[in-house]
Amino acid sequence: MKVLVVGGGGREHAICRKLAESPKVDELYCTPGNGGIEEDAICENISAEDIDGICAFAKERSIDMAIIGPEVPLAMGITDRLEEIGIKVFGPNKKCSRLEASKSFTKDFLMKHGIPTAGAKEYTDKEELLEDVGIFGYPMVLKADGLAAGKGVIIAETEEEAKAGIEKLMGEKAFGAAGDKVVVEEFLTGVEASMLCFVDRSAMIPMESAQDYKRIFDLDKGPNTGGMGTYSPSLVFDDRLIEQIKNEILEPTLNGFREDGLDFRGVLFIGLMINENGAKVIEFNNRFGDPEAQSVLPRLKTDLMDVFTAACEDRLSEINLQWSEKRAVCVVMASGGYPGSYKKGEEILGLDEVDEDVTVFHAGTKREGDRIVTSGGRVLGVTALGDTHEEAREKAYRNVEKIRFRGAQYRKDIGVVRKERMIGG
Ligand code: AMP
Ligand code: GLY
Repeated sequence: MKVLVVGGGGREHAICRKLAESPKVDELYCTPGNGGIEEDAICENISAEDIDGICAFAKERSIDMAIIGPEVPLAMGITDRLEEIGIKVFGPNKKCSRLEASKSFTKDFLMKHGIPTAGAKEYTDKEELLEDVGIFGYPMVLKADGLAAGKGVIIAETEEEAKAGIEKLMGEKAFGAAGDKVVVEEFLTGVEASMLCFVDRSAMIPMESAQDYKRIFDLDKGPNTGGMGTYSPSLVFDDRLIEQIKNEILEPTLNGFREDGLDFRGVLFIGLMINENGAKVIEFNNRFGDPEAQSVLPRLKTDLMDVFTAACEDRLSEINLQWSEKRAVCVVMASGGYPGSYKKGEEILGLDEVDEDVTVFHAGTKREGDRIVTSGGRVLGVTALGDTHEEAREKAYRNVEKIRFRGAQYRKDIGVVRKERMIGG
């Protein structure tokens, strides 16, 4: 098969690496790809958001199936457009993509189908929201309805902060039209974890779990990022919790998709808040997590192309996913200054010194002649597998230390399981 992966980050590198191993894939392309993906796929410099460009390229190369990595092209309707020209797509259509692109759409869906989530109220009028400030008490959770690169959620501790947050979202329009509607939610307490599922009309199959570290600094300090590292499997889930999630969240979600005519095909990423009473849904994303994919996919033993093909034919219920018993830890190396402004073009050294059984996924990198240079905020994801969690962690960090670029920063506590990250902790 001729396969195209859309995107150019660490997640897309993890997908491409897996597909490159598949005997079913004859030709593998990636748009735009990056300096590392070039080793696994033929990269073409077309932006992931240039839908016309991608459609033309896919047609020209007679692509059989496209896999869409990031949320923005999905929300723009890339799936519908590629399907119109006869290409199979793994990634939800525009209608289903609202599950990530609109917080109020998702909230309505969750409430309608009785899926556990925080109570909420939505506002389109700033004055009305200001009158209701503190409606569920404090902290007050304010969410821009639309896509805001993970930055559209404000947790205000006080009335003053809440008013400033409302002004930022609805007055200054810090996230543009994403803030035309704001969803206010009850504040949930507990431990956060994510569950990623392969979904088609026939089934919703959870992948092995992963734990993400969102803040830039150790001990979960500093601003939120796209994710500074992950480990898999997560140590937060136990069998009883997974049963509850299957019964109270996965089943009603799949039934809800059927009832509402949501023809979801792709990855549903469920953000959860977990405490002694069980799990509640914080959000849905409609794609693999980044960097969750970099610790989950290396553990997948089943041919990923078989999974994508089954999903495109609504045969996922026939797939029995096989996972390695090994533990994975992925440490993200980022540019100095990220998630604020940072320099690009720093040469990356030491990539060839890394242990053979450690994988360096490229995120923000670019090839310049025979040099690899930085070209983004998150630069690399270093993933190690080990027989134990500790072994994987130790191996990941031993290899991170071999890689050098000016300004490089990374968290030192990825995979360290702190008590407050455990349920009841
Ligand atoms: P979201 O983009 O909806 O996942 O929100 C971003 C982050 O805000 C989450 O990962 C949580 O840490 C936090 N958050 C969102 N909603 C709530 C809530 N209702 N209660 C507590 N924290 C929340
Ligand atoms: N790592 C979180 C995300 O991909 O949204």
